[in-house]
Amino acid sequence: MSDSKPFKLRSQAWFDNPDNIDMTALYIERYLNFGLSQEELQSGRPIIGIAQTGSDLSPCNRHHLVLAERIREGIRDAGGIAFEFPVHPIQETGKRPTAGLDRNLTYLSLVEVLHGYPLDGVVLTIGCDKTTPALLMAAATVDIPAIALSVGPMLNGRHDGQRTGSGTIVWKARELLAAGEIDKAGFVKLVASSAPSTGYCNTMGTATTMNSLAEALGMQLPGSAAIPAPYRARQEMAWATGKRIVDMVREDLKPSDILTREAFLNAIMVNSAIGGSTNAPIHLAAIARHAGVELELADWQRTGHHIPLLVNLQPAGEYLGEDYYHAGGVPAVVAELMRQGLIHEGARTVTGRSIGETCAGVAIADEAVIRPFDRPLKPDAGFVILSGNLFHSAIMKTSVISDEFRARYLSNPDDPDAFEGPAVVFDGPEDYHARIDDPALEITAQTLLFMRGAGPIGFPGAAEVVNMRAPAYLIRAGLHALPCIGDGRQSGTSGSPSILNASPEAAAGGNLALLQTGDRVRIDLRRGTADMLISDEELARRRAALDASGGYAHPASQTPWQEIQRRLVGQLESGAILEGAERYQRIAAKGLPR
Ligand code: FES
Ligand code: MG
Repeated sequence: MSDSKPFKLRSQAWFDNPDNIDMTALYIERYLNFGLSQEELQSGRPIIGIAQTGSDLSPCNRHHLVLAERIREGIRDAGGIAFEFPVHPIQETGKRPTAGLDRNLTYLSLVEVLHGYPLDGVVLTIGCDKTTPALLMAAATVDIPAIALSVGPMLNGRHDGQRTGSGTIVWKARELLAAGEIDKAGFVKLVASSAPSTGYCNTMGTATTMNSLAEALGMQLPGSAAIPAPYRARQEMAWATGKRIVDMVREDLKPSDILTREAFLNAIMVNSAIGGSTNAPIHLAAIARHAGVELELADWQRTGHHIPLLVNLQPAGEYLGEDYYHAGGVPAVVAELMRQGLIHEGARTVTGRSIGETCAGVAIADEAVIRPFDRPLKPDAGFVILSGNLFHSAIMKTSVISDEFRARYLSNPDDPDAFEGPAVVFDGPEDYHARIDDPALEITAQTLLFMRGAGPIGFPGAAEVVNMRAPAYLIRAGLHALPCIGDGRQSGTSGSPSILNASPEAAAGGNLALLQTGDRVRIDLRRGTADMLISDEELARRRAALDASGGYAHPASQTPWQEIQRRLVGQLESGAILEGAERYQRIAAKGLPR
């Protein structure tokens, strides 16, 4: 062994290793071929990756192609060298069968890149729904210094003088079309009005949720999440983010220093206050497991349920992304929760300082958009967790429940009322689309709609299809929403009071597979129960019959990855990660790749 000192930077093992000069020469020569100099590569400057999620296939994140120039300038200005590289694209609206299938694929590939290449730190370019968790999961696993940068929401959409928000307008347009109030051309025009610029969904969908939570977790600079994509402040934030990551490398400030249990509990509270997406518990569970942090679904109810809804964004409220930014964004929400003593203020952030220090004293700039704690839009806006003989766990987003429904079923602990009705069961979205308007189903205002075969294995990837519209004949009669329950997900832009993410899913042996159309089902939100009113003997008989038939059937895999994911993926309640991958933690601290 030589007596040379350990590397100051991990990139020096590639570019400046006197003990292995032939490999150093080999690594260096190819990275010189586009004009970098040997002097730069051996200057002891941190090499910073820019994990680029933008592309023509990923329009939500495409503006990162522009922002990367300012990230690079920030990296240079702080004395680093930027290496930009592509990340496997994930576009929520474009990827079939679902972008949910690709989160774990992007995770896997980014772990390999961060581990196997000469990178000392990385800028994670986040945005569209699954890009944020995928990149944070990988950064947590490898644990080199990492900082996230949101691409920012689109500008507000408008149509006929009204705000039109991404996704949310689709659910509205569906109803208008079913009621015959608009035609097909009008449908497209109305929906397109919600996308006036570059950026991600301008509603409080999964994108704004996850970008807000990335900031609440401490993984991006304060104020970064809410800046609209085209604003000049977004370019300034890109530059500041590039500068900061270089210093984070010098300070050896890593995801494991930031992603603590306190940080996750802060994110849960912020999620309630912003009216965040039902996808958040799935993604935070996944990030936490890869970070080695204990977090369970019950934490969402314990820590999050009693937080009121403060942010008045669609789908729970009326405003959109630009308004959220001008009202103060995440720091204003965090500061308001801090004034109630609710935030774990000591949690560290990418700034090197605590979230308490960075958010202290931030005022709400527009109380119509971010309400003060004592005048919330809704009380108790966090999720309700349910369990029973239908599933081990499922969640309900209460920030979108009507006041009438809340008063009847949720708020009064002395009132024994629970909702009960006959089930109509669909096996996957194709079955639902084919039959929802069939009068033979005899769907009434009392019916509970069930969707199964839509989980991580069944679909595969877990489809956002549980929020089902009522049959057209009921919509025309004025009834818009029926309770929907299922083992898939729901778009964060949907305002449906659905019961989602049921685990285990039918395809993983869950009891949802035993439910039959016509069975009565009872949901008690106060007690957190969801049960088929079927005797244990009958359930056992159905289970035996299902097992004899080979179990709940799902469509065949169409690609190799679908098959691999189906073999390894866990359930939504535990993050739907590739089971076993969580054994690999803090990889960088264990040494260099061979
Ligand atoms: Fe990409 Fe909503 S579809 S952010
Ligand atoms: Mg979505």
